[in-house]
Amino acid sequence: MDWEYIDLHAKQWVMEAGDKIRNSFDKTLNIQTKSNPNDLVTNLDKEIEQFFINKIRNTFPYHKILGEEGYGDAVSNLDGVVWIIDPIDGTMNFIHQQRNFAISLGVYENGIGKIGIIYDVAHGELYHAISGKGAFMNDIELPPLNKVTVKESIIALNATWLLENHRIDHNLLIPLVKEARGTRSYGTAALEMVFVATGRVDAYISMRLSPWDVAGGTVIIEELGGVVTNIRGNKLDFLSKDSLLVAKPGLHQTIMNDYLKQGKW
Ligand code: IPD
Ligand code: CA
Ligand code: CA
Repeated sequence: MDWEYIDLHAKQWVMEAGDKIRNSFDKTLNIQTKSNPNDLVTNLDKEIEQFFINKIRNTFPYHKILGEEGYGDAVSNLDGVVWIIDPIDGTMNFIHQQRNFAISLGVYENGIGKIGIIYDVAHGELYHAISGKGAFMNDIELPPLNKVTVKESIIALNATWLLENHRIDHNLLIPLVKEARGTRSYGTAALEMVFVATGRVDAYISMRLSPWDVAGGTVIIEELGGVVTNIRGNKLDFLSKDSLLVAKPGLHQTIMNDYLKQGKW
């Protein structure tokens, strides 16, 4: 498989999609809700997903597509080449702030991540990696991730997980938050993952994400020696919803062993 050829097309389409999103900023959005009143979708989320699907189907007709808005294929396994696409990650931010959102795209072959692309449209920052060929932010190659202690780290997580909830014993996270240098919450899983890649934060934790939230970021993080698992320390399957712990190499182990493993699962 010529991954560089596929990557060239993917990056070109992501840039075109970014232009479409930027051009929408002064137009009225059609906003709808999905599973609950805070689960938002706009006409742009749908249009951008359809844009990618048309491009992929015309250029790579044998590839499968798993897209958040459901215009792709009914993907039940990762056999062959599968594109996993979130046309706009951080839709709430897109609607309310017109920033802090991203296009996220991962290309997998038989379940192995090959290409990861995340485009921070508002800042013009394109994060990309081909497995084994380095990870980049625009033209700058990102250095491998270093070890860091909890005390020196900034951890991205949503305040929801520090309140009583039915996904995790929130008491496990309170000592971690107290010990860390700081916490941040950006409301876009894709960007929170690449912020670990650039060292803007050191770890990102979430209790429930979908394959399209994490597929692109995983390729980029792993290329830099970072670790991506669920909060039980298991690999993600990119077919089902799961929790997420992304961190620099040593920090991942510390968070698992000293905080999360204290819980009863
Ligand atoms: C959401 C964002 C958010 C995360 C949610 C996701 P969407 O994606 O990544 O940060 O907390 O769980 O669903 O719906 O804006 O694509
Ligand atoms: Ca998303
Ligand atoms: Ca989305």
